[in-house]
Amino acid sequence: MKFLVTGGAGYIGSHTIVELLNAGYEVAVIDDFSNSNAETLENIKKITGKDFSFYEGDVCDKQLLNEIFKKEKIDAVIHFAGYKAVGESVEKPLMYYRNNIVSTLSLLEVMEENNVYKFVFSSSATVYGKPHTLPIKEDFPLSATNPYGQTKLMIEQILKDLRTSSDKWDIVILRYFNPIGAHESGLIGEEPNGIPNNIMPYIMRVATGEYDKVHVFGDDYDTIDGTGVRDYIHVVDLAKGHVAALEYLKDKNGLDIFNLGTGNGYSVLQLIDNVSEVNEVDVPYIVDDRRPGDIASCYADPSFANEKLGWKAEKDIKDMCKDAYRFANKQKSKKIIK
Ligand code: UFG
Repeated sequence: MKFLVTGGAGYIGSHTIVELLNAGYEVAVIDDFSNSNAETLENIKKITGKDFSFYEGDVCDKQLLNEIFKKEKIDAVIHFAGYKAVGESVEKPLMYYRNNIVSTLSLLEVMEENNVYKFVFSSSATVYGKPHTLPIKEDFPLSATNPYGQTKLMIEQILKDLRTSSDKWDIVILRYFNPIGAHESGLIGEEPNGIPNNIMPYIMRVATGEYDKVHVFGDDYDTIDGTGVRDYIHVVDLAKGHVAALEYLKDKNGLDIFNLGTGNGYSVLQLIDNVSEVNEVDVPYIVDDRRPGDIASCYADPSFANEKLGWKAEKDIKDMCKDAYRFANKQKSKKIIK
């Protein structure tokens, strides 16, 4: 089987391609390198010893998409491509709506024109807004507090309407919790442009000595130590969740939604302590004000994915911290050499 992976040079896309190639599938990749680079693709080939076709371009470009579908024999699509920074989406809503919505519509239209109807979508736990109880199940109420989250919700709705319109469509929506960590080779991982918004890339810049200290956003939440609690999941486990979802799609009709999380919550301070302990590094921090829009706690009930996909996150917080640091150190040595 051959899969088209959009946004395949990105953080989650690249790890997923490794798992797909390792599982014996073929892939074709499209990415515009807006938040990624070509070296990641070379590193995927180094890790797996396998090759794949690559198209540089925008998923909004229907002509290019059509060329890809005509040339490659695509059986299913995994759609990662999209902008993902919450703060930036508040500042540039039009850019977010145009890019995330138009690209998805273009892709779905071209799929239909080419009779390809199997689709896996990267959604996010952000669609649960402020959950009333925990752990979060897939049937909890949905809401969004920023344009980025709105695009995820809108695309989920488009997919539900599409499935209602025709039972040709077989769709899996994966709602990710907080992916961190890196491939154990240290060759691929998360390296955001500019100052990281997310906690783990920021902690890594402190652990490797690039920044002085982590700014902990609030220590007065109703949590174990007052800092925010999240369900951190190793990106390789998340990637394996996609392989499981595609295998499920092979002989399953319908639209299904799965939480991909571990079911365990860790606070910001627990995460910092783990990074520090596992890697024997200092991670200084100070406590700042709460970040607007943040919630106290968020963690999944992953039992539906465990049961239906036969998938379970296997790596623990120590693996996540060790692998993230290995990758961050390699990135740092590259910056020094440059
Ligand atoms: N935090 C800090 N300091 C920082 C960054 C974050 O203390 O410099 C704290 C936050 O307050 C929060 C926790 O670390 O308590 C996690 O924050 P992240 O920004 O890493 O992650 P979020 O849970 O806020 O959001 C992430 C993605 C979203 C996605 C969501 C899904 O950024 O795109 O997970 O749950 F929707």
